[in-house]
Amino acid sequence: MIRIDNLTKCFGPAKILNGIHASINKGECIAIIGPSGAGKSVFLRSMALLEKPDSGTILINGKDITAKDTDINKVREKMGLVAQGFNLFSHLNVMNNITLAPIQVRKQTKAQAEAHAMELLALVGLEEKAYAMPSELSGGQQQRIAIARCLAMDPDIILFDEPTSALDPVMTREVLSIIRKLSGRGITLVIVTHEMDFARETADRVFYLDEGTVYEEGKPADLFKNPVREKTRAFVKTLETLRFTITSKSYDLVAMNARIDWFCRLHGLDSRHNYRIQLAVEELIQEIFLHCFNAINPDLDLTVEHFSVNNEIVLIFKYRWELFNPFDQQAGHQDNLGMTLVTGMARSFDFEYSDGINKLIIKL
Ligand SMILES: Nc1ncnc2c1ncn2[C@@H]1O[C@H](COP(=O)(O)OP(=O)(O)OP(=O)(O)O)[C@@H](O)[C@H]1O
Ligand SMILES: [Mg+2]
Repeated sequence: MIRIDNLTKCFGPAKILNGIHASINKGECIAIIGPSGAGKSVFLRSMALLEKPDSGTILINGKDITAKDTDINKVREKMGLVAQGFNLFSHLNVMNNITLAPIQVRKQTKAQAEAHAMELLALVGLEEKAYAMPSELSGGQQQRIAIARCLAMDPDIILFDEPTSALDPVMTREVLSIIRKLSGRGITLVIVTHEMDFARETADRVFYLDEGTVYEEGKPADLFKNPVREKTRAFVKTLETLRFTITSKSYDLVAMNARIDWFCRLHGLDSRHNYRIQLAVEELIQEIFLHCFNAINPDLDLTVEHFSVNNEIVLIFKYRWELFNPFDQQAGHQDNLGMTLVTGMARSFDFEYSDGINKLIIKL
C-alpha cells in the first residue's frame, strides 16, 4: 500500500536520507528505530510531505504523492501525523480541536462531527474532558486528544514521531495503550519510537534506520534477538546494557534513576526490580565514595545488564583505588540499613582486584 523507492534528502552538504527503500502493507504497524540523528524524523516528515525529498518516490496505493500535480491537502486528509509536542490549538477546547477539520475540510455538520468526536473521546478514555481547554490537561491527556483529533479525519495512515518522548512513564503507558488499540483496526501505523518494548510487542515489523537507509528490517523477535548486520547488532547491544561513568561526588542521581527506569521499561522489568537496582546502585556508589574518594574526583564505571533467559540483573562496578571490597566490611555495616538490604537481596557477589582496579559484580 505504501511503497518508497530510493528516497533521498540533503540539508546542505549532509545527506540525511540516502536512498530509502521500503514497502508497508495496509493495516501494518511499523516501528522505526535507530540512533539519534539517523534521519527518522526527516523520513517521517518526508512521508507526510512536510519535507520535500530531493529524489525518489512515495507511492500510496500506486499513486506517487511526491509528483508535482499531487493535491497535498487530499493526501493529508488520509494521512495524519502525531508529533512529539502536543500541538493542539490552545485557544480551542477539546471538542473544537477535534471537530475543526471534519467540519471545515470534510464538510460534516457540527452534530455529526461532535457525535464522532464523542466516540473517539471514549476510545481514548477522555469523554469527561470534552469541554476542557488543552491547558487543563496533562501531557498524556493532550497527546491522547491529539490522537483523537487525528482519528477524526478517518485517516488510512497515521504517522507518529516519538509520541511519548515528552511524557513520564505513567502517561507513556496511557498513550501507548491507545496506539496498541489502533493497531489491528485496519489503519496503517508508522511509529518512530525509543520505546523498544513497545516496538517489540506491538509492531508487525521494525525498521532500523542508519546510514540514511532502512539498514535492516524484520519482525521484532528476529531483529531484536538476531540482528544480521553489524550496526544493528551494535545498536541492539546498547539496548541490553546501561552504562554510567561517575566522575563527581555530586553526580546526578535523579538522571541516573530516570535512566534505570527507562532501562527497566525497555526490558519489561517490574517495579520491584527497578527499586532493587536503584537501591543497590545508590548504596554502593555511596559506600565506595565514602571509603575511596574522599578528597579526589573518582572515576567509577557502572554497568547494568539484564539477562532475559533467567531474568538476572548484573551490576558491575569498576573503580581504580587500593583494594576495597564493600562487602568485606560487613562488620562495620551493621548500622547501615541500605547496605544490609543490598546484601540481603543479592543473589551473589564477586570481587576481583587487579592492576589497581577493583571490580565488584553483584547479581540481583
Ligand atoms: N530542517 C533541517 N535543516 C537542517 N538539518 C536538519 C533539518 N532537519 C533535520 N536536520 C538534520 O538531519 C539529521 C537527522 O535528523 P532527524 O531529526 O531526522 O533525526 P532523528 O533520527 O529523528 O533523531 P532523534 O532520535 O534525535 O529524534 C540531523 O543531523 C539533523 O540535524
Ligand atoms: Mg526525531
